[in-house]
Amino acid sequence: MSKQFDVVVIGGGPGGYIAAIRAAQLGFQVACIDEWKNAAGGPAPGGTCTNVGCIPSKALLQSSEHFDHANHHFAEHGISATGVKMDVAKMIARKDNVVKQNNDGILYLLKKNKVTFFHGRGSFVKTTEAGHEINVAGKAEEVITGKHIIIATGSNARALPGTPFDEVNVLSNDGALRLGAVPKKLALIGSGVIGLEMGSVWRRLGADVTILEGLPTFLGAVDEQIAKEAKKAFDKQGLKIELGVKVGEIVNGKKGVTVNYTNAKGEAIALDADKLIISIGRVANTIGLNPEAIGLQLDERGAIVVDGDCKTNVPGVWAVGDVVRGPMLAHKAEEEGVAVAERIAGQHGHVNFNTIPWVIYTSPEIAWVGRTEQQLKADGVAYKAGTFPFLANGRARALGDTTGMVKFLADATTDEILGVHMVGPQVSELISEAVVAMEFKASAEDIARICHAHPSLSEATKEAALAVDKRTLNF
Ligand code: FAD
Ligand code: NAI
Repeated sequence: MSKQFDVVVIGGGPGGYIAAIRAAQLGFQVACIDEWKNAAGGPAPGGTCTNVGCIPSKALLQSSEHFDHANHHFAEHGISATGVKMDVAKMIARKDNVVKQNNDGILYLLKKNKVTFFHGRGSFVKTTEAGHEINVAGKAEEVITGKHIIIATGSNARALPGTPFDEVNVLSNDGALRLGAVPKKLALIGSGVIGLEMGSVWRRLGADVTILEGLPTFLGAVDEQIAKEAKKAFDKQGLKIELGVKVGEIVNGKKGVTVNYTNAKGEAIALDADKLIISIGRVANTIGLNPEAIGLQLDERGAIVVDGDCKTNVPGVWAVGDVVRGPMLAHKAEEEGVAVAERIAGQHGHVNFNTIPWVIYTSPEIAWVGRTEQQLKADGVAYKAGTFPFLANGRARALGDTTGMVKFLADATTDEILGVHMVGPQVSELISEAVVAMEFKASAEDIARICHAHPSLSEATKEAALAVDKRTLNF
């Protein structure tokens, strides 16, 4: 007889391993299956996020920012640093070590919570009275059964038709995070989140970076005013972003890659680059899952169809994270994982999609929660806006980074905060206050009346809230 569990989680990324831990906390017998392998072939749970996503990208952003500061910003503090060199191999090794610490941390957490971990690929076999049978193909092969199954199999990079990733010249996020040397010329297709973060890393290290974007607007999902401010900063840094292009033939040759494209003016251009990163979005991953075996419904884009509670069309089978609808963010996957575990336990798991924050970890950082000004206009909502520039913030001046602003959007009648948008230093941290405020349905006045430490960047948040009522104190 196969091993029987109350809950079997397929996928050990942020959606899966967090769901497994929460389910174990709630008293269930839980298994978590993950197939990711480290360089030695051993388990490396944590998914895209830990292995080739959030964590390694932030490690490289940090290293490259130090390098950029040493080269361009130390001097203004009176520090002379000449002959600053970047040892790319060491930077990548540090990043790999950061990843390993996270892999090991997750294995420890699973053990601590008595989750049985299986290293291998999980695929559906059939549904029986005892539950759903999952075949686990790892070093050995075995079948386990779960009364409830949580699918958290994540996503993969989307390739351009006719241009497969070879991870040598044509790179997905995976190859982009383990280049052996700084490319002289780097091309990227897609100026979304990965394009901007990866473009920033390699530009700071000295690459001549060109990002080709199909849409005519820059960061269309971001508040227009914030996106405009960010674009100004990227232009100043020399990050070349071409909007409204149409990418044509891509030639992957021995010496590098040529991207043929038509620019917004209709001119045909051949862009030569040593490396090409393709960052045009991601696709839900159900490879090897064998969803047909239990009649699991997928949509036309390959994502698992779920309702608002993450229930699939098959009773007892749930799905969370990148493999289902909604933003492809680690914290969204985690929230869904927790909520599903709680629903299985008969509790009221809840995910508030209106208060999921977004952060782009470039310099300046970009962060937001809630609706943008353009969305409020489209929705016909009467709103008040308040902005405060970091230029007028004492801590930002002391840090030496006064780029950007904080922007509040509040309901014209009730003053309820409808959106908060930021571009500037460390806004990845500042956005949390706005998330808390919106979760508690705070008004802009609530934030304006709260004492914020001085001198701190968070004072810009308070001042932007004051600006909604046209009464900033420092601007
Ligand atoms: P994943 O993390 O993809 O995990 C899925 C896991 O399931 C993988 O380990 C996979 O091997 C395993 N698996 C798949 N199929 C099977 C199977 N049949 N059997 C066993 N195991 C299986 N998000 C943020 O919020 N912040 C960021 O800063 C951020 N940065 C990113 C940077 C990059 C370069 C990329 C690519 C993504 C980034 N993301 C970021 C997005 C984030 O990584 C994803 O939203 C998140 O990882 C989704 O979590 P998940 O658990 O749904 O899937
Ligand atoms: P994205 O959706 O953020 O951006 C893709 C960009 O490529 C878009 O601007 C799109 O218009 C453009 N594009 C699509 N097809 C194109 C084509 N044929 N030619 C030219 N441009 C084209 O996707 P990205 O950057 O690949 O990232 C995937 C996801 O990973 C993100 O949406 C996000 O959910 C997650 N992520 C999150 C991060 C964070 O939270 N900081 C960091 C990195 C990734």
